[in-house]
Amino acid sequence: MSVNDISGPLDYPTEEIALSVNGEEVTAEVEPRHKLSDFLRDARGLRGVRVGCEHGVCGACTVLMDGRAVKSCLTYAVQADGADIETVEGLADDGALHPIQESFHEEHALQCGFCTSGFVMATKELLDSEPDPDRDDIEDGLADNICRCTGYQNIYDAVLRAADRMDGEADDEGAADDEEATGDGATETEADR
Ligand code: FES
Ligand code: FES
Repeated sequence: MSVNDISGPLDYPTEEIALSVNGEEVTAEVEPRHKLSDFLRDARGLRGVRVGCEHGVCGACTVLMDGRAVKSCLTYAVQADGADIETVEGLADDGALHPIQESFHEEHALQCGFCTSGFVMATKELLDSEPDPDRDDIEDGLADNICRCTGYQNIYDAVLRAADRMDGEADDEGAADDEEATGDGATETEADR
């Protein structure tokens, strides 16, 4: 094929990557130019990874890479080699929504929903590092995400509600662990011994 013949398929070099996507071990051949957002959407079918601006401004494509929120439109898939990637699809537990998702729903923190998965993942990073955020923490934590239609008040309220809910769940788990460790809550009586 001559250099001027562009009719045939172009053969780009690829690299193998191995990563975890929502807990699933994945290997794939990707071109070095491929963005992580395109890899997740097209190769993995994870359409909750939204692509809006494609230049790092809107935050719709936010995913967690080793627990840190990244713009997947600014990240090459090869950069995720060896990483642990979480997308919004990985949050629900056996069909039960994650507390952050529940809270966005209950606080009506979305309208069209295009931005929502990015906000949810940014919220997860925030609450994983700061379980009891104040308003400034929330504004800072979500500063890289843009919503064009909801207005931010409901989103901030949803984050506070999620923090309360996750704190309550942590307390419940702690109490259950204490009961298990101390034997409190067991029904054994003196007569049983
Ligand atoms: S699509 Fe990635 S920041 Fe907008
Ligand atoms: S809900 Fe429409 S852009 Fe945020």
